[in-house]
Amino acid sequence: MTEEKPIVREAPRSAAEKLASGHFMTRQDFTELLAGFQDPRITELLAGEAVRVRKKYYGTKVFTRGLIEFTNYCKNNCYYCGIRGANRSAVRYRLTKKEILECCREGYWLGFRTFVLQGGEDPFYTDERMADLVREIKGAYPDCALTLSVGERSYESYRLLREAGADRYLLRHETADREHYRLLHPEPLTLDNRKRCLMDLKALGYQTGAGMMVGSPGQTRETLVEDLLFLQELRPQMVGMGPFIPHHDTCFAKEPAGSVELTLYLLAIVRLLLPRVLLPATTALGTLDPLGREKGLAVGANVVMPNLSPRRNRKNYDLYDNKICTGEEAAEGFRNLRCRIAAAGYELVMERGDYLEEETKG
Ligand code: 5AD
Repeated sequence: MTEEKPIVREAPRSAAEKLASGHFMTRQDFTELLAGFQDPRITELLAGEAVRVRKKYYGTKVFTRGLIEFTNYCKNNCYYCGIRGANRSAVRYRLTKKEILECCREGYWLGFRTFVLQGGEDPFYTDERMADLVREIKGAYPDCALTLSVGERSYESYRLLREAGADRYLLRHETADREHYRLLHPEPLTLDNRKRCLMDLKALGYQTGAGMMVGSPGQTRETLVEDLLFLQELRPQMVGMGPFIPHHDTCFAKEPAGSVELTLYLLAIVRLLLPRVLLPATTALGTLDPLGREKGLAVGANVVMPNLSPRRNRKNYDLYDNKICTGEEAAEGFRNLRCRIAAAGYELVMERGDYLEEETKG
């Protein structure tokens, strides 16, 4: 027994070193790696390596995306989400095409070269309407990247939107464990379909983003291992990961929020697992911790997503309680954000910030 102890304690370190040197990670490796959480030596090792890797590919650049939350209607009922369809208290809104284009205009003027159209799964947005919106925006701003984040759709729909000009797509997988997925989402949502969507998006040439909440109800070390295995397999170009935060009108109102520390630990792991990944320091992280954004950058994040939605609608895009929307995460607070990022030793840049493709060999 006494002989075994040091070996057990060294397992997380070996797993962290294996990850940092770019090796394929087994289930066992990820399990050991997660056992190193809260061991300051492992946390520091991972953060240091994550920052080194990010710097190697992206220098000190932090990319900016202008987030436009264009509809909060949603036909789904995800148990954690404040804009779930069954929440009668949610005040619903849907921006008009004119309003959306106005957000883009303001964003472009501020210097943004990526717009993210995010919304609930709003049946109003048929393929035709969505494609029309994409064409309008890409027609008006051909030098900008357009990211969609409008949930699960058919291959055909994703194809039409890609043809219309969409460049990127964010669709968090939320959890890669089937039972956990069921605990978070009622039917008809299924993990299989979520994975199918992500595969379709990648196959269609979208820069694709997956990701999960940290500390969602029912999440365990095992489900997180599934998430990491899934990310390793999918190799998304972007990963959105923030702490779970309860919303008062949901079934999970009384659940505790996710841990900022664990989120940071996982951000470092994801940076090492997918060295060129575009990894935002999320609004949820900034909501739970006033220094969340800087802390995210210090473990390998390299994207921020200020809010470009009209001010009057912002409080209604109410995914979780106390979601910040008027400080530095708002486009108007941009100068402040730039200062804070510069003070942390990084440079906020406005370029499109595409995924850095690996050089093809031979
Ligand atoms: N806490 C944190 N993140 C949430 N999201 C939805 N509800 C919550 C919540 N209560 C996240 C989901 C979704 C993204 C748009 O917001 O991961 O994919």
